[in-house]
Parts: sequence; C-alpha cells; structure tokens
Amino acid sequence: MSDQQRQNKLIVRSVEITPPIALAPMVGLSHSALRSLVQEAGGVGLLYTEMLAAKRLPHDNEKCSPLLVRSEGEHPLFYQFVTASDEYVPAAVEKLHRLGAQGIDLNLGCPAPMMKKQGAGASLAEDRIKLTKVLQILRKSTELPVSVKIRLGESIDTAGSRSFCRFLQDEGVDLITIHARLNGEKFCRKPRWAMIGEIKDAVSVPIFANGGIFTVEDARKCLALSCADGLMIGRGAGENPNLCAEIAKNVYGERVGRQNSKTEIYFKFISLLEERFAPERRLGRLKQFTPYFAAPFTFGHHLASAIQTCTSIEQARERATEFFSDYI
Ligand SMILES: Cc1cc2nc3c(=O)[nH]c(=O)nc-3n(C[C@H](O)[C@H](O)[C@H](O)COP(=O)(O)O)c2cc1C
Repeated sequence: MSDQQRQNKLIVRSVEITPPIALAPMVGLSHSALRSLVQEAGGVGLLYTEMLAAKRLPHDNEKCSPLLVRSEGEHPLFYQFVTASDEYVPAAVEKLHRLGAQGIDLNLGCPAPMMKKQGAGASLAEDRIKLTKVLQILRKSTELPVSVKIRLGESIDTAGSRSFCRFLQDEGVDLITIHARLNGEKFCRKPRWAMIGEIKDAVSVPIFANGGIFTVEDARKCLALSCADGLMIGRGAGENPNLCAEIAKNVYGERVGRQNSKTEIYFKFISLLEERFAPERRLGRLKQFTPYFAAPFTFGHHLASAIQTCTSIEQARERATEFFSDYI
C-alpha cells in the first residue's frame, strides 16, 4: 500500500483517531507530561495511560495520583488497566467513566514475572476461561471503545494467533494492538512485523502494529509488512517526542506545526512535570524519561547519568543546560 492510499482517519465506535498513530502505554513514561509533550508536537491520534491496576483504580485519587492526573487537552485518551480477575472490572470501569475516558484498554501483553505470578497481562491471555469472563464483564459494563494490547504469544503459531484475535473480536473488542514479539522476547530482538500481516485479515476490527518503530523509515517498513491500520509508538516517542509528528507528516501526509528543537523539548518536559505533578513526583519521572531521550545524542549517556544523580529539579535543569550548551 502506498503512502497516498493509507487511511488517515479511523473511527472506533464514535471515537475518531486521526491519524492512526498511538502513543503506547508505558509505566513511568506515558503520564500526563509526556502525553502533552507528544500531543503538542502533533501527529498523535490516540493516547494511552500507563497500565493501572483494576483492583486499586477505584481508590486512587485523580487529583493527586500521578497515574491519573490528566489535562483537558489529552484527547482521545484510552485508560489501560491490568487485572487477573473479572471481580474488579465493574468498579474500575465505573471509575474510568467518571474520569471521562474515551476508551478502555485491557493489558494482555505484559510478560513481567510479577504479572505472570498474578495471572494478569500475557498470562491472562493464555487463560481462555478467565479472559472470557473479564472481556464479557468489560463489554457489558461500557459503551466506550474497548481495546486490547497483546504480544504474539508463547511461540510462533499463526493459526493460534488468528483464532485468538477472532475470539477477541467476538467478545466485543473494538481495536487490537499487537506488540510484534513473543512473550519471552526482549526489546533488543527485531520485531516480527510480518507476523502481524499474517494475522490481520482474520479480523475486521482495526489492528495497530507496535514494536521497534524509531524512525519514519521504520514506520513505513512496519506498515508495509504488517498491513496494519495504525501504529503504536513507545520508546521511539521517548527518544524523539516529535516522532509521531514526523510519521504523520511523511507517511500519512498530515499537516503538522513547527517542531521544537530537542533542547526546547527537554525543558518543556521539565516544565510540564512541574505543572502537573507534586514536587516529590517530578524528579523520579525525569530520571525515568532521560535515558530514552538522551539515547540518540552522542555522549547522551553523560546526560542520563548526570540527571540520575540529581537531588532536585533545579539541579537537573542546570546539568541539562550544561549538556545542551555543547549542542548549540
Ligand atoms: C518503560 C516501559 C514501560 C512499559 N509499560 C507498559 C504498560 O504499562 N502497558 C503495556 O501494555 N505495555 C507497556 N510497555 C510496552 C510498550 O507499550 C511497547 O509495547 C513496547 O515498548 C514496544 O514498543 P516500542 O518498541 O515502540 O517501545 C512498556 C514498555 C516500556 C519500555
């Protein structure tokens, strides 16, 4: 499919996703500050929260929980939750309705040992009986779009993956994001975008491809191999918060505004952290973000380690100013 033939607009239930590029759910990264930063750069049609524990969600205070803080501009925003049981779903969904979610995502792809122990994330995807219960109660509890994020499973099994996606669709899932790696595969492994292409036509709901997209060229290759209806960008947006805008412009032909320089972006991110989070929450999030952001710079590890040992945001600003002075 050529860039010109690509669908720029997706409607999932009544939610418009233009262009079909999503910022991935990422613990410690996909909070209000990064979401706003990426959205301001342009080119992102869908935002996700990081994963939220369904059990805890009803008790979290959206005014101060850094997981739930959100500005009005962050739209459309799908809240991702993780659970091992259907028991917690109705109250979690009720809370998400109150928070004004545009959609709800179920994490079925996280392979972390902690999730495995609980039977959540990728483990829930392996337990068809439990998963059916979770999806049925989720679908019954909301009219909002329901999406899921999955990996390719325990081992390569195209027929199994096709049938799993059909099952998800039959249980009322409106959008499926596939992280193109098997459960046990690390991020350093090349993503299996072509496997998404082998699964995609098993369902009629939109499929977003995820994993290993760091450049416009990666986006083009991923779309060519996966035939996906959209892309989800994770670490690439941490390395380059303008990436969604660059893909939107060059692959989807979208108009995007002027892009801020890398230095402007970093200081803007610090200001957003100050604006959105309580003082004690800011520095930790800057420390989580900086290794990703610094990675593409020559000597970026100097910035990452300089920020890692900071004891205040003011000190981080000074050290970053010093680092960036070499790049101006
Ligand atoms: C720091 C970090 C936190 C993540 N947290 C989540 C999460 O909360 N929920 C989820 O579904 N995936 C999570 N992921 C996986 C990403 O959403 C994405 O699938 C993965 O990073 C591959 O995409 P990428 O190559 O574009 O980064 C996380 C990844 C990273 C690096």
